[in-house]
Amino acid sequence: MISNIISFVHNNRIIEIKNPDPNETLLNYIRTQLKKTGTKEGCAEGGCGACTVILCDFKNNQMNYRAVNSCITFLPTLQGKQLILVEDLISKDGSLHPVQEAMVKFHGSQCGFCTPGFVMSLFSMFKNNSKFKDETIKDTIAGNLCRCTGYSPIIKAAKSLKNKKKIDHFTKNENNTLKLIKKINTKSIAIFKEEKKYFAPRYLEELKKILKKNNDSDFLSGGTDLSLNVTKKRKDINSIIYLNSVKELNYIKNDNSYIEVGASTPLIDFEIYIKEYYPDFTKILKRYGSPQIRNVGTIAGNIATASPIGDCLPLLLSLNAEIVLQDLKKTKTLLLNKFFISYRQTKLKKGQFIHSIKIPLVENNIFKAYKVSKRFDDDISSVCAAFNFKIVKNKIEDIKIAYGGMAAIPKRATHCEKILLKSLFTEKIINKAKDALDEDFKPIGDMRASGQYRMQVAKNLLEKLYVEVKQKKIIGIYAQN
Ligand SMILES: Cc1cc2nc3c(=O)[nH]c(=O)nc-3n(C[C@H](O)[C@H](O)[C@H](O)COP(=O)(O)OP(=O)(O)OC[C@H]3O[C@@H](n4cnc5c(N)ncnc54)[C@H](O)[C@@H]3O)c2cc1C
Ligand code: FES
Ligand code: FES
Repeated sequence: MISNIISFVHNNRIIEIKNPDPNETLLNYIRTQLKKTGTKEGCAEGGCGACTVILCDFKNNQMNYRAVNSCITFLPTLQGKQLILVEDLISKDGSLHPVQEAMVKFHGSQCGFCTPGFVMSLFSMFKNNSKFKDETIKDTIAGNLCRCTGYSPIIKAAKSLKNKKKIDHFTKNENNTLKLIKKINTKSIAIFKEEKKYFAPRYLEELKKILKKNNDSDFLSGGTDLSLNVTKKRKDINSIIYLNSVKELNYIKNDNSYIEVGASTPLIDFEIYIKEYYPDFTKILKRYGSPQIRNVGTIAGNIATASPIGDCLPLLLSLNAEIVLQDLKKTKTLLLNKFFISYRQTKLKKGQFIHSIKIPLVENNIFKAYKVSKRFDDDISSVCAAFNFKIVKNKIEDIKIAYGGMAAIPKRATHCEKILLKSLFTEKIINKAKDALDEDFKPIGDMRASGQYRMQVAKNLLEKLYVEVKQKKIIGIYAQN
């Protein structure tokens, strides 16, 4: 069934919106149409967390409470989900939710502007985890900024939740919510609003049909990049094809020779999965934006954006990943190394989309990745580096090194690789390889770092890698390490 009516669950009932503006943000709708003003706008670009709400769906046989930034979520993507706002946390009898009680008890709020966002992030932690370790708490609130209370009281409030009963009115009502979600989760969406179009197909075949007539559309995945054209650049996006509604594109497969990740798989799912194979990939993803960003953002979106500082890109390049591109007629597999042409230019053609990403699994290789940014959490890299290599009898075999932030595109350090390949793994050769980076890159300066700083960091990371591998210990870049 194809419809122009968006249906979602809110406060135990189904709400329908007929033919909404595809560029309207969820935040705008919440504040102006639902008239719920607890959810705040701070930055309008996913960076402060003041607008955090919960979108809940049913996945792997359980309710999945995901914190998202409503300021960069387009309203039609609400289709088929449950929306939970800060106002909904209070029970019918007026009692506060355990998360709210804890924030009050531990004085987690002063001016209160950031508080609804923190409450919603902590609510998602409360619902999705059984243990609230220090690491889980820090990760949970990494995307929420507070300018006056400070984080200690908020962290204390979060820690106190471990003694609270997990059953709240959402748990009690889950069966009913699930029934409502199942009822509305059966339609594809096609909206034609003045000159704007929006499609949310549910199947690949449907997607192809839409592409046939609308191959000038922008693909929308998590929207953590695309939506900023509307919220920051004040532009309209006239035709959108939403890929995250296609369930066939949301998967992770493993055939022991490579891991295949479907294009609409959220980063947060991949981050958990990849830990067993490449723990450093998870380490980098933990510092990628915030949970709100990773709950919806995708690797495919990161690749298509082709930012020189896209964090997945040097990691995927050093792992020699391939991407599967699909258009109306055919699929084609391409080495990621051949995909980036120049600054934010790729080989992606009109009407072609990234179907999946294939990451080789190589036994006995060492894979290490580092991100250096001005701030530890929720910040874009100044330099990101990834090293994938094998050492046999102290000789370097099969080395692949890639850097982000060092050129107009994320790029392999081929001169550096050449020096290291088939050499003994010694300090002397590492020093030579560091010099070779001058041939590989001529980094520019910008607001994040000067070109000189970037080059020094790139060389230092190579040295850090050497020391860590030799001494089998981790040298922290930040105090937090
Ligand atoms: C607050 C904030 C923090 C961030 N932090 C980081 C960070 O730490 N590191 C980092 O690397 N990035 C970061 N980003 C950038 C952004 O989150 C990533 O680039 C993200 O991976 C984009 O994925 P998405 O699914 O949201 O893409 P979208 O925004 O949906 O799309 C991005 C672009 O890719 C295209 N596209 C999407 N999917 C496909 C597909 N399957 N096939 C073809 N084209 C496609 C879209 O048309 C669009 O041009 C941050 C962004 C924000 C707002
Ligand atoms: S308003 Fe700052 S993240 Fe949405
Ligand atoms: S309480 Fe004022 S910004 Fe956090």
